[in-house]
Amino acid sequence: MIARALAAAALAFAGLTCQAQSWAWDDGTVPFVVSPEEVVDRMLRIADIGPADYVIDLGSGDGRIVIGAARRGARALGIDIDPSLVERARNNAASAGVAERATFVAQDLFDTDLSKASVITMYLLPEVNLKLRPKLLSLAPGTRIVSHDWNMGDWEPDETIELRTPEKPVGLGGKSRVHLWIIPADARGRWVAELPEHGGRWEFDIGQQYQSVTVRATVGGGRDLTVRGTRLRGAEVKMVITGLVGGKPWNQFFRGTISGDRMAGEVLVSDGDQQRTIPWTATRRK
Ligand SMILES: C[S@@+](CC[C@H](N)C(=O)[O-])C[C@H]1O[C@@H](n2cnc3c(N)ncnc32)[C@H](O)[C@@H]1O
Repeated sequence: MIARALAAAALAFAGLTCQAQSWAWDDGTVPFVVSPEEVVDRMLRIADIGPADYVIDLGSGDGRIVIGAARRGARALGIDIDPSLVERARNNAASAGVAERATFVAQDLFDTDLSKASVITMYLLPEVNLKLRPKLLSLAPGTRIVSHDWNMGDWEPDETIELRTPEKPVGLGGKSRVHLWIIPADARGRWVAELPEHGGRWEFDIGQQYQSVTVRATVGGGRDLTVRGTRLRGAEVKMVITGLVGGKPWNQFFRGTISGDRMAGEVLVSDGDQQRTIPWTATRRK
């Protein structure tokens, strides 16, 4: 039965289209297919993995992503449901000389505690990614998620690269995608900052879906400004806002970091002739 499920899931994987193979996927089964080494390298690079990281690869196969992360100095854990693959991955880590930093556990990825990871990597299936999504979204802001090929439905990646991978063992066309998501902080709500030296009271009304934010900004008791661009990346917020401040047209580039109900950073203000940087903090009003 398991062999049948794996065979059907492998067919679905090879088709690279989302067809209704639900009986093969509903049990969380994903076939063993390796990521080409070049894709592994891109996955590690897009997440900027280094010695400070703790990486968990969900469905670690022969261990190549975990071993690659350990080679970059990170501590890394591979989770695979197939004990023979866990055994193989441990041997590969020992041969690569990274067994101290690369560990492997045979268990279901859905039973795995992800809370300590700074990076999660995976090469699974679309349905499995979607099933994992709520758990991923509850991780600490700034945690990086990297997926080979499959996306997360309407949760757009922060970055995607595509590369030709003629050696890829599945699919047609010999291409791979690598997606990166950065778990966003909760930025929603009305934030108030006092900037006596530049406009007085600033208010930011922030709406949020995943890492995408919409901002309405007012200054000096109600004047609406133009929000030209925003970005939320982990806990880091950027907002570029233009308009009349104190009766003169100004450009403001706010950068800040969210920590609970406080946001703090610097704003670069410029009017074309002069510019200066002012520290700012905002608090969230309930
Ligand atoms: C497509 S392979 C990816 C292997 C490796 N991460 C790579 O990119 O080369 C998916 C792996 O997930 C494992 N797997 C499938 N379902 C799983 C589950 N529920 N829990 C843990 N591992 C699972 C399979 O045994 C297989 O090794």
